[in-house]
Amino acid sequence: MAEPDALIQTVHDIVQRHGGLPTRLLQILRDVQDCLTWLSPEALERVAQELDISPVKVHSVAEFYSFLYTAPRGSYDILFSDNITDRMLGNRELLHYLCDRLGIGIGETRADGVVTVGTTSCTGMCDQGPAALVNGYALTRLDQPRLDRIVERVNGQIPLTQWPREFFEVVSNIRRADILLGRHFADGAALRAVLKRGPEAILEEMVKSGLRGQGGAGFRSGAKWVSCRNAPGEVKYVVCNADEGEPGTFKDRVLMQEFADLVFEGMTLCGRVIGARQGFVYLRGEYRYLLDALQATLQRRREAGLLGEAILGDPTFSFDIDIHLGAGAYVCGEESALIESLEGKHGVPRIRPPFPTTHGYLNKPTVVNNVETFATAAKIAVEGGAWFASRGTAESKGTKLLSLSGDCERPGIYEYPFGVTVRRVLEDCGARDAQGIQMAGPAGHMISAKQFDRRICFEDLATGGSFMVFDQSRDILDGIRNFTHFFVHESCGFCTPCRVGTSLLRDLVTKVHTGHGTRYDLEEMRKLGQIMRVACHCGLGQTAPNPVLDSLDQFPESWERRLRATTFEPAFDLDAALEQARQLTGRDDSDAHWREQELTTGATP
Ligand SMILES: Cc1cc2nc3c(=O)[nH]c(=O)nc-3n(C[C@H](O)[C@H](O)[C@H](O)COP(=O)(O)O)c2cc1C
Ligand code: SF4
Repeated sequence: MAEPDALIQTVHDIVQRHGGLPTRLLQILRDVQDCLTWLSPEALERVAQELDISPVKVHSVAEFYSFLYTAPRGSYDILFSDNITDRMLGNRELLHYLCDRLGIGIGETRADGVVTVGTTSCTGMCDQGPAALVNGYALTRLDQPRLDRIVERVNGQIPLTQWPREFFEVVSNIRRADILLGRHFADGAALRAVLKRGPEAILEEMVKSGLRGQGGAGFRSGAKWVSCRNAPGEVKYVVCNADEGEPGTFKDRVLMQEFADLVFEGMTLCGRVIGARQGFVYLRGEYRYLLDALQATLQRRREAGLLGEAILGDPTFSFDIDIHLGAGAYVCGEESALIESLEGKHGVPRIRPPFPTTHGYLNKPTVVNNVETFATAAKIAVEGGAWFASRGTAESKGTKLLSLSGDCERPGIYEYPFGVTVRRVLEDCGARDAQGIQMAGPAGHMISAKQFDRRICFEDLATGGSFMVFDQSRDILDGIRNFTHFFVHESCGFCTPCRVGTSLLRDLVTKVHTGHGTRYDLEEMRKLGQIMRVACHCGLGQTAPNPVLDSLDQFPESWERRLRATTFEPAFDLDAALEQARQLTGRDDSDAHWREQELTTGATP
């Protein structure tokens, strides 16, 4: 642990670097942890003093985010990505192999304090897994030889900067391009268009384009921008949602890696249209490897007059962008939780309405859009709304980026006009033997082969972009069980139907999956799922039962063949539970024992 004086100085310097702003609390805690490897009570206390905020607030933030540690961790913190696609690629075997080689158990820190190995939710590398993070940086395409080389470096305590670059290589795997990925865009073109034609004309193009939010919910982007522009107030904000926490999705990663200029241009355009001077990118913690390059792009744009004061020489056009790094909380992708996190709080979704367009960041009007939405908006400003609307379907204009992973020959990013069939996508990515698709991540929908002629669009199968393929060799329930664990882990705990419901659902699925379930359990899942859909506070809990409910409908045989008996089977050993009562009463006769067969006749012991 750092000496008291050193700790005080470290925290002081970090807080100063962040302007002493409590809104930067999450970033400050991240930086303190980077220096000290964990957030000790003394460090948290010091942060609270430096920011002049309550220690309780600092503790609550430190405890909320998965990537913030309030207990010591190893100098090398290795977290295996544990999405179902990583499992399909053999991540569990590799995880055990690594732990054996390092001499620790999963979730443990080695006694010498050098290394910790654990798991985390999907890291957004499904096209190049099995993946992991080491001290927050993505490791891809893991296999035993690579793990051997990692073990050598960990044991030799070689700094990460000296590890081979190929360990950290993240390729973009763009397999199909259309108007967004395929067409050249000249930096500054959208900003010149808005300066030439004016914000109203660009807003009209946005409305005419029919562009809908590409983060999944599909709200009309033009209407969102109009609402924020018309909201009273001088100070407004633009927020780019690059949290991309939905397992199986990685298209925003590719956009930020290959098309950052386009995304920043869309944000700057939005700033001009709604009258905002400040934008934020909320970048998921797992994409930390992108941070330096993104900062460099922002700096280059400032120097080119595309960002900062007097953009393109117009003194009335000023806009800048800050990048805020998340810390492993899927719920922070929900726009109001994201705003809370940006404000330096733990990410609990707000009660809505009011919506961010009138009461967003710091209660000011704010546009929150997905990465893909901003990139597309920049193109629309240049090419026009009619050009964009000429593609797609009646209710879903333009194109959609899909992140393909799982059982297919060519995982990666595919851009299609809305309306493409699932079957066509499967053909293109080389998924020959698909049994089912998990569309739009665990929160989306599971479809079976009977539905492969359905179309990807808001009228039929809406998606934020995740497309995970399961072939005939897979047990669908492996995926469902993985998803229920994901939701238990990611529930923020604010409301009871989600906090308790996700755990109950996981337990029921596990019970059936391990061969102890009955029809009664399947009915319980249905009932619980329906309750969660209506009673949960935010989209996370409302959609958490989707994979279970869908698979009960689409893959009944997968559930049926797991059932051991059709009648009620208790989830725990009732007879053993009565043991204490028997001891207290000194009885051990047959009437003091549970007799299972009597349940079916309605008799009780
Ligand atoms: C639990 C949860 C997680 C979400 N995660 C994301 C995300 O990672 N990225 C995203 O753009 N939208 C996400 N959303 C949707 C956002 O709340 C919001 O609708 C979106 O950022 C708006 O941008 P768009 O209109 O451009 O799609 C999530 C919603 C929920 C309920
Ligand atoms: S539904 Fe779940 S994630 Fe959403 S507020 Fe409730 S507990 Fe939190």
